[in-house]
Amino acid sequence: MSDTKQSVPRSVVIAGAGTMGYSMAHIFAQYGFTVTLYDMAEEALENARTRIAEATDNLIEDGKLDRAQGDALQQRLGYTTDKACFATFDLLVECIIEDLAIKHTFFREVSEQAKPDAIIATNTSGLSINALAEAVAHPERFIGMHWFNPSNIIPLIEIVRGDATSDAAAETVRDVALALRKKPVVIAKDVPGFAANRLQFAVLREALHLVEEGVVDAQGIDDVMRYGLGLRYACLGPLAIADFGGLDTFHHIASYLNADLSCDNKPSALLEEAYREGRYGVKSGRGFYDYGDGRDVEATRERDAAYLAVASVLYGA
Ligand SMILES: NC(=O)c1ccc[n+]([C@@H]2O[C@H](COP(=O)([O-])OP(=O)(O)OC[C@H]3O[C@@H](n4cnc5c(N)ncnc54)[C@H](O)[C@@H]3O)[C@@H](O)[C@H]2O)c1
Repeated sequence: MSDTKQSVPRSVVIAGAGTMGYSMAHIFAQYGFTVTLYDMAEEALENARTRIAEATDNLIEDGKLDRAQGDALQQRLGYTTDKACFATFDLLVECIIEDLAIKHTFFREVSEQAKPDAIIATNTSGLSINALAEAVAHPERFIGMHWFNPSNIIPLIEIVRGDATSDAAAETVRDVALALRKKPVVIAKDVPGFAANRLQFAVLREALHLVEEGVVDAQGIDDVMRYGLGLRYACLGPLAIADFGGLDTFHHIASYLNADLSCDNKPSALLEEAYREGRYGVKSGRGFYDYGDGRDVEATRERDAAYLAVASVLYGA
């Protein structure tokens, strides 16, 4: 294949209509793409149709779309369990279950039918792009496109290159993300956790270590992030913050502090205990905090309102 950049694809298949897929399909349609939402389960598609209608109504209520634009958005969306859609797309973004064997079977089937220049992307949270690419006919047009939940609010999309991904495919998918008014960041190497999850888990490891050692309790950890580091990170990021702090000062601190930080290579005891006891967080009604008696719904609403307020100030979302 030539390595010249392709024009931004217009015909998109989102495969998997669950938590991520329905919302991503909605965003693609909002920005003018023709979208087919594919799932093997009719029920998932019905559920997606309802949630997309609600999300469109919310955009109209918020004054972001008028009724005619809302109707046009919904008309750009199709819903299907028919694999015939594998033969027609310019770009497919896979959002099915996070299971290597199931994704392999899926990609083999898609690859057999896909148009010669079509791009296949995966929203995997952590599976290796190179391992997933083994199932496709054209690994040069296979790439990670990693969105973040809630995808209608969080701007970041990690564009994760496999070893075989062409420059052209990477640039095309980056352009797609820009056309969706998202913030794409290209991850040049396929490493476990890409960039965002590595950073997230480095922070979580130290946070759990401090709680386990009795240095600060769970609420204290969350307050340190919310009222201190988190506010900075929303505006600058750790490297720019270090520039403002002074790299000489950061070097002095790193020279005595790094050796004291947690370097556990297993999930921490606190996380193990929560997992064993079925305390999975919001979804099970209890995690580090209590979400019983409807608090789960309330906490999710509060979270989304806070994310939206910050996103609106910082990015005019
Ligand atoms: N949920 C998150 O916060 C999040 C964030 C970023 C990335 N991801 C990734 O996105 C992907 C989807 O996650 P989710 O949370 O939306 O999952 P989900 O369980 O909510 O939805 C998965 C959907 O895929 C469908 N499906 C499963 N196997 C299929 C197959 N073989 N063919 C067609 N449809 C199939 C299911 O019917 C279901 O509707 C995963 O790879 C996950 O790691 C999830």
